[in-house]
Amino acid sequence: MANQILKGKNGIIFGALNEASIAWKVAEQCVAEGANIVLTNAPVAARVGQTEELAKKLNVPLIYADVTKMEDLQTLVSGSMAAFNGKIDFVLHSVGMSLNVRKKNPYIDSNYEYMHQSFDISSMSFHRLMQTLMKADAMNDWGSILALSYIAAQRTFPDYGEMADAKALLESFARSFGYHYGKSKKVRVNTISQSPTKTTAGSGVGGFDAFYNYADTMSPLGNASADQCAQYCVSLFSDYTRMVTMQNLFHDGGFSFTGISTDLMEKFSD
Ligand SMILES: NC(=O)c1ccc[n+]([C@@H]2O[C@H](COP(=O)([O-])OP(=O)(O)OC[C@H]3O[C@@H](n4cnc5c(N)ncnc54)[C@H](O)[C@@H]3O)[C@@H](O)[C@H]2O)c1
Repeated sequence: MANQILKGKNGIIFGALNEASIAWKVAEQCVAEGANIVLTNAPVAARVGQTEELAKKLNVPLIYADVTKMEDLQTLVSGSMAAFNGKIDFVLHSVGMSLNVRKKNPYIDSNYEYMHQSFDISSMSFHRLMQTLMKADAMNDWGSILALSYIAAQRTFPDYGEMADAKALLESFARSFGYHYGKSKKVRVNTISQSPTKTTAGSGVGGFDAFYNYADTMSPLGNASADQCAQYCVSLFSDYTRMVTMQNLFHDGGFSFTGISTDLMEKFSD
């Protein structure tokens, strides 16, 4: 299906931990579409993930960076520009982590140290990344920056815990920073609100199978897969979507605008 629509473009892709990761699929498809990419992940991923295998397979550089550390992001951005011998056209922020969810703390009994770290990793990192890119004048005009979100930012899903608040903040950063990046460099900033997807981060949410199956039954098109999400990311990195910015874009098979599906009607009929 590849049409080389990213030919000659340079991009940084965060968060490809293993083959199930959404970012893994995005990296593969960006390369298939002709892009030059740099992969990045948290240093701990060297131990627990397969990012290095992907870098070898795609024959692309891998620069580890912890998104909570400004110096790491500065090194990543300068290292990527050196690797590309030029500026950057697109960035995927595919990073999320909730300490309270991981420790199974109930939302109403959250630990605030953990909450602070969760927001730092999952949301503030997006602002920190864009500030780093802007200060280094690292983005080409008409570049595209994307982060991945979830509909718990708008509607309550009790087991999603503090990640709901983290995603609301993430989406707000896309709007607020997107304004400034648009004004100064014509760079667009958006979030994609993706269907539940079977990945390491996704499966960490309590009751994930219920989330997944409910969304699949509600959505007229069913749940969007990680591969389909990657296709959408490619389109948003391409020159065909230059005027789309500051949006939270639902990529969920219609879930977000469905009141009830006929399948669920049947299930709840006497
Ligand atoms: N899986 C889903 O159901 C789903 C749905 C909607 C949105 N999302 C979002 O998609 C994004 C990617 O998640 P995924 O589902 O592919 O899971 P994943 O576990 O494969 O990816 C999460 C990534 O975040 C990285 N990360 C964590 N802490 C980091 C840090 N301090 N510095 C740098 N990287 C760090 C991990 O190493 C990992 O690669 C996340 O933002 C997630 O919230 C996922």
